[in-house]
Amino acid sequence: MTDFAKKIMITGGAGFIGSHVVRLFVQKYPQYFVVNVDALTYAGNLENLRDVEMASNYKFEKADINDEKGITALFEKYRFDGVIHLAAESHVDRSIIDPLSFVKTNVLGTASLLNISLKFWKNNFDGKLFYHVSTDEVYGSLGADGFFTEHTAYDPRSPYSASKASSDHFVMAYHHTYNLPVIMSNCSNNYGSHHFPEKLIPLMINNIKNNKPLPVYGKGENVRDWLWVDDHARAIDTIFHKGKIGDKYNIGGFNEWKNIDIVYLLCSIMDNKLGRNAGESSKLIEFVKDRPGHDLRYAIDATKLHKELGWEPSLQFEEGLEKTVDWYLQNEDWVKHVTSGDYQKYYNQQYAKK
Ligand code: NAD
Ligand code: TYD
Repeated sequence: MTDFAKKIMITGGAGFIGSHVVRLFVQKYPQYFVVNVDALTYAGNLENLRDVEMASNYKFEKADINDEKGITALFEKYRFDGVIHLAAESHVDRSIIDPLSFVKTNVLGTASLLNISLKFWKNNFDGKLFYHVSTDEVYGSLGADGFFTEHTAYDPRSPYSASKASSDHFVMAYHHTYNLPVIMSNCSNNYGSHHFPEKLIPLMINNIKNNKPLPVYGKGENVRDWLWVDDHARAIDTIFHKGKIGDKYNIGGFNEWKNIDIVYLLCSIMDNKLGRNAGESSKLIEFVKDRPGHDLRYAIDATKLHKELGWEPSLQFEEGLEKTVDWYLQNEDWVKHVTSGDYQKYYNQQYAKK
């Protein structure tokens, strides 16, 4: 273990974004030892990391970030230099059904992780870093114009975004109060492979494929700013290595889309790939009851990250969406595994006709 230049704990590494971050760090930095700490909730799946599970600089540890004893034992065992914290409850609709589980993992879990990091690092902060991965949703909702910058005041409006905002505040409070070396980033909506099919894009792909209704909330006019998940992972890599301690960075692709336009685009890509007539899949679109408190528009200004650290997105949305569809069509077993059990229960509850 002493042979490694850094020992890094990545929390939530079995989830959607976390698995892309783990893969990138394990493959790009053989000199680092990466420990993926994940509780394997419904959203965590070790199948996401098949291709790196045998790597000599990688280890999985099943643990809940709220388990103070368990996480302390991992710090004792590995003597981490860095934490990249992604573990969270991440789905807005679930946060509306069960807000307290979001408080528990996102707020209390993050605070506990900060506390343990401080305990182990406080005598020597040199070379240590707590990197907190957050979302643009903490900034609230935009009207037709404007962008979220790093100076936009927080205005979270869903239990999910409120819990992430609270965790962000704790991260900064640990820096200002105890000098804990922290960095934070707030990213827009991600898309790509291994995305759990409760979120818009993979849910629509799965339903189009299975000829199931495509539930568009409200009129489908809400706007999100979409980023290819590997571009997010690259941004985390850049910020982890070059970012300024105590600072925060917005990550986004300057890529705004109305939900309904994405659904039409997916229908057309899939008509093509599945050999259906043009327009066939879009007949599945159903406008359903809107999400309560549905944020109208998110748009990230990622100029700081580009200017200060040189990061920029690599993929155009249409190309990324096509690659994403290909991945889901080629990985039907993955979809089958994650859409059994808890998924079915959640789906029936969320989309029951009211
Ligand atoms: P995800 O739901 O796909 O994965 C979350 C992972 O965390 C899962 O592997 C789960 O098992 C694990 N986890 C949950 N609770 C845990 C606990 N108590 N202890 C240990 N592990 C636990 O989420 P994601 O979409 O990959 O998001 C990852 C992070 O990025 C989150 O912090 C999220 O807020 C943030 N983020 C997500 C997006 C997005 O578009 N998905 C955008 C910006 C920021
Ligand atoms: P989602 O993927 O849940 O991400 P977030 O709420 O974090 O942005 O939803 C993206 C957008 O798609 C959001 O405006 C809600 C909408 N949406 C639907 O219209 N239908 C659906 O079934 C889902 C899951 C989302």
